[in-house]
Amino acid sequence: MRKLHAVPLGLLTAGATTFGYASVIERNWFRLRRFDVPVLAPGRPPVKVLHLSDAHLTPGRKRLIRWVRALDALQPDLVVNTGDTISHPDAIGSFLDALGPLLDRPGVFVYGSNDLYSPVFKNPLRYIWRTSQADYKRRRRIPDLPYRELGAALSAAGWLDLNNRIGRLKVGGLDVEFGGIDDSHINRDRYDQIAGPVDPRADVHVGVMHSPEPRNMDRFAADGYDLLLAGHTHGGQVCVPFFGALATNCGIDRPRVKGLHRHNGSWLHVSAGLGTSPAAPFRFCCPPEASLLTLVPRSS
Ligand SMILES: [Fe+2]
Repeated sequence: MRKLHAVPLGLLTAGATTFGYASVIERNWFRLRRFDVPVLAPGRPPVKVLHLSDAHLTPGRKRLIRWVRALDALQPDLVVNTGDTISHPDAIGSFLDALGPLLDRPGVFVYGSNDLYSPVFKNPLRYIWRTSQADYKRRRRIPDLPYRELGAALSAAGWLDLNNRIGRLKVGGLDVEFGGIDDSHINRDRYDQIAGPVDPRADVHVGVMHSPEPRNMDRFAADGYDLLLAGHTHGGQVCVPFFGALATNCGIDRPRVKGLHRHNGSWLHVSAGLGTSPAAPFRFCCPPEASLLTLVPRSS
């Protein structure tokens, strides 16, 4: 009898330990990932791009706020925020506090679905067999988070709003052309509004989106964007050792759920993000991250 009871007790203990690790330790174990991206003309000096995504910030996430604020020490030439920034109506001030001196640097941003809609509890395992896109179509029509105020605060600091817009910034001596779209996960992307070949007079061309949806990435690449930046996937958020992500929650394939990859002729960086929805506050084998992308000259 003792052995029969020992098995479920052991499983319960292992489950509780894993959940505790995933929700308390790994969720706050922030990493900085670094990549070199060869998109510059030969002879140009390197340019540093800090890619932030999916902070899902609530005012109580002090560790996340402190960690992001310290990233200014990297002295990035540009900050790119690919959305899902807030998960609470009072989180805008906390996000501005997290950015701190980063806000004084050149920056661009797009929205993610979670900037518009507050978190609701969902079984995270269902992302294995379908994306969360249908939830918004069925039940969530009226935004209940202050995404416009978030955008206004970032714009007031001089950051470019790239939701279905094109923009241009001087970044570390480079003339950078940007094209961006609003979140395809909730059908707010309007690529037609930015469609067309990139300006060849710009030094580099960067496409910005929340969700790495292949139909949009195809168009960015066809228009000549050198580098595509996205978030949304959380890198799978709960991964299996030696296997990786179980799901991407959008159209991109599992091997490109995070990190630096190619998409047609473009480079693609997908951030695993800084946070999680407060309704699913855990990460496993997929630590929260920001990325420092150093744009370097092409080899030829
Ligand atoms: Fe997210």
